Parts: sequence; structure tokens; C-alpha cells
Amino acid sequence: MIFDTHSHYNDHAFAEDLDEILRRFQDAGIGWAVNVASDTDSLDEVQELADRYPFFYAALGIHPSDCGALTEDFPEKLKKRIREGRKVVALGEIGLDYHWDEPEREIQQYWFRRQIELAQETDMPIIVHSRDAAQDTMEIMRQMHAERTGGVVHCYSYSLEMAREFVKMGFYIGVGGVVTFKNAKKLKEVVQGISLENIVLETDCPYMAPTPHRGERNSSLYLPLVIEEIAKLKNIPEDVIIETTRQNAMRLYRIGDLPA
Ligand code: NI
Repeated sequence: MIFDTHSHYNDHAFAEDLDEILRRFQDAGIGWAVNVASDTDSLDEVQELADRYPFFYAALGIHPSDCGALTEDFPEKLKKRIREGRKVVALGEIGLDYHWDEPEREIQQYWFRRQIELAQETDMPIIVHSRDAAQDTMEIMRQMHAERTGGVVHCYSYSLEMAREFVKMGFYIGVGGVVTFKNAKKLKEVVQGISLENIVLETDCPYMAPTPHRGERNSSLYLPLVIEEIAKLKNIPEDVIIETTRQNAMRLYRIGDLPA
């Protein structure tokens, strides 16, 4: 069964037909998904989904683009949610997004550091979102000893060389729909250049739908297209891709004993 390590089923894009999609999970071979929070509202939403569905887990944290309004009482509140929440398997998504000008970089960096600290206090792996900010991301993770908890660099978009550095720090590389795009040369190179033991599957749905659905609403049901591409790039059978990445996801999120 396929493990989707990064999804947003709380997104309004799924408001109309979530149950219809989830009913098709089993037949499509989708076993589990981690819904990742991004802003303060979604902290409740992803927890509710994990409570309601046995195959959903939750990750709690604030995305760099949504950290502008956070106040100093936030870390204690998040800590409480992580400690008291059910099926919370990671702190995320957190990081740096320089693609957008808001909030300013110093604010993003401040909350990235604070949330890494919080992950260490609560002993949670982190889900890192990093866009157009490779050097600063690496520098902060080094300074903060992010290897203490490990985690995943999700929707990976940097070089093979840097991927190897993240792997050395104990991080998994999150690969999703982008790998199927014709012009995704760099990511294809990354997938070929690192071991399958260091890769996890993700959708980032409703975003990042693979070819031939590019631009449409994404869901875990499209993950077989991502698996097919990784299998081709690495010349490894698809069932091995599914099983190895399932085990990687369980190690990443420290979940034991899921059935194959
Ligand atoms: Ni995401």
C-alpha cells in the first residue's frame, strides 16, 4: 500500500467530495496520508481529519508564508497541541519561502528557528518547506542541529549535491508530481542520484498534480503516476518503490506496524 507523506485534504478544494475520493483509496492501493497544517486554522482541521479517519495522520506547524501574524504565545500553544493531539507524527510544514515577499525574510527565519526548537523539545521530526531559499535553509538547519530530530525536505526542488547534504543530516527527500514534468530535469537527476532508501512519496494535494493532470486538482489517487516515473528513472520495479517508500515513511514519522 502507498503512503502519501504530505497532503492537505483539509483544503476547500475537497469540501464537496472528500468522502468520494477516500472511498477509492483502497482500490487504488492508497494506504495512508499525513495531512500537513500550514496556518492556524488548519491546525484544528488536520487534527479533526486524523480523529475521523483511521488512515489519516496529522502534522502541526506554520508555513513560512503564514507566520507573519504569529505572536510570542504561539510556541506554547503549539507544544500543547502536539503533546495532547492524537496521531500527530511531525512538526510542519515549516521553513523558508522566498518566492513571495511576505512576510519578510527575517520573520520567516525567526519562526523557522523557533519551530525547529519546538520540534526538539517535543521530539518530533520536521517537515521542511523550502522554496528559492536553499542556502539559508541549509544554514539554519545546520545552526539549529536539525539532525537531532531529522525529517523530510518536502517537494524537493534543489540540486542533487544539496539533496545529498540533506540526506547526510538524516532527512528524507519528498518527491511528488513534479518528477513527471518533462522539464523537471533537476528533480529527475536527484531521484536517480540518491538511494531509494532516502525518498518518500508525497502529493502536496490539492497542488502539484502529475502529468497528464498537471494544473488539475491533485489527490493521492494520482500517486501511481509518480511511482511509475520513479520506477523508470531508477530502473526498479514499481512494487519495490511502493514497499520501500512505505517503510521509509514509517521510519520518518516513527509509525510502527502498518500492514504492507
Ligand atoms: Ni504542503
